[in-house]
Amino acid sequence: MFDSKVYIQRRNRLKEQIKSGLIIFLGNEESPMNYSANPYHFRQDSTFLYFFGLDFPSLAAVIDVDEERDIVFGNDVGIEDIIWMGFQPSIKERAMQAGIEETMPLDKLEETVKTAVQKGKKVHFLPPYRPETVIKIGQLMNHPDAGKDHSSEDLIKAVVEQRSVKIKEEVEEMEKALSVTHETYSVAMRMTKPGIYEREIAGKMEGIVLSHGYTIAFPTILTINGQILHNHYHGNILKEGQLLVIDSGAESSLHYASDITRTIPAGGKFSPKQKEIYEIVLNAQGSSIDAIKPGTKFRDIHLQVARIIADGMKELGLMKGDMDEALEAGAHALFFPHGLGHQIGLDVHDMENLGENYVGYDDKTKRSDKFGFAYLRFARELQPGFVMTVEPGIYFIPALIDKWKGENKFTQFINYEKIEEYRDFGGIRIEDDVLVTESGHRVLGMPIPKTIEDVEEITGKE
Ligand code: GLY
Repeated sequence: MFDSKVYIQRRNRLKEQIKSGLIIFLGNEESPMNYSANPYHFRQDSTFLYFFGLDFPSLAAVIDVDEERDIVFGNDVGIEDIIWMGFQPSIKERAMQAGIEETMPLDKLEETVKTAVQKGKKVHFLPPYRPETVIKIGQLMNHPDAGKDHSSEDLIKAVVEQRSVKIKEEVEEMEKALSVTHETYSVAMRMTKPGIYEREIAGKMEGIVLSHGYTIAFPTILTINGQILHNHYHGNILKEGQLLVIDSGAESSLHYASDITRTIPAGGKFSPKQKEIYEIVLNAQGSSIDAIKPGTKFRDIHLQVARIIADGMKELGLMKGDMDEALEAGAHALFFPHGLGHQIGLDVHDMENLGENYVGYDDKTKRSDKFGFAYLRFARELQPGFVMTVEPGIYFIPALIDKWKGENKFTQFINYEKIEEYRDFGGIRIEDDVLVTESGHRVLGMPIPKTIEDVEEITGKE
């Protein structure tokens, strides 16, 4: 945990933002895989971690803004549990680490909420994303759809405002995750050669993460089918000429994430055709990182990347016509069908459970409904302390190519005949995590090879 002062400060700031009422936070429960004593890896709710730091299941907390009370609800374990789990500090001892003196057993939560409701206090809670939390909120609020319909917009906005700006300690945690990620990529790139299974590389990377006492931040994407954006299948054997896309990250002990992507030639050398596409993506990624500074809208950087990709595709004869018009129409999304990036922090897609539009959009920046552009998770102005992923890519997705071609879509901008030469190309994505500073930006973590020369230099050199 961070020092208790960090959590006290965050809760005090939240009280100032919310002004009155009662705020409920439900921690996560253990989640059974196949029977209750065999649970999935436990992951605490990120907002619970942010305000309370307590990283174990079956907890709740309340902030009574009017009475300036912070209360942790949880049950001390008995001897039966201690036999199986070993010694456990009391809830009181644990709450003290978050700077909270007042604790109550879990069954007092309902009474606390109902008393507040009777007193006419507004009760704030965040939108629940786990089924058991939906049910619990329904019970506490005496309304089965409360979780779905009555979460507090004020609370969502206040939490997004605070969590978006990372303090020094949070950035340090992310750099720890990135240091482990650097190691995983060094090993993975050296292992990449024809004849090896994707799963051997994925297993080694994940093993390194676990050996540091960390966990993976999200299911590892490691695939020779990089055109499938979130491909979690690892059963292919690498062959000469293929491209391997690895998109993976670690989560530090305090649960701050890293998220890095590299594209590696399976045989150690990029083909001339692969080099041409790789250079476009690398150039797009470099210029988008260069453009990161406070006050700039991330949406504008996304559009700048779309332009670089469209111009590059035109130069290769894959697009044609007027690129201003092509971009306006959204034709480039055939090759770049996703957003440039997202915020990262306690969640790899930070705060996505609170609603993407609250996190990435605001009154000044509305979401586009155009294919591809609509997937941009974050578009608004950047501020110092934001940490963004920057992850452009170019993909040849046979199903999408065939669909658009069948519909004669954008035939004035897309050279479908030329695209046939790239049908089996796969995809290329390059991603880093970038902190917005007062004067510009800083790419976090130690550099992981990404120029053609540097990638070829390390690939296959075990
Ligand atoms: N790195 C996976 C994602 O951003 O969705």
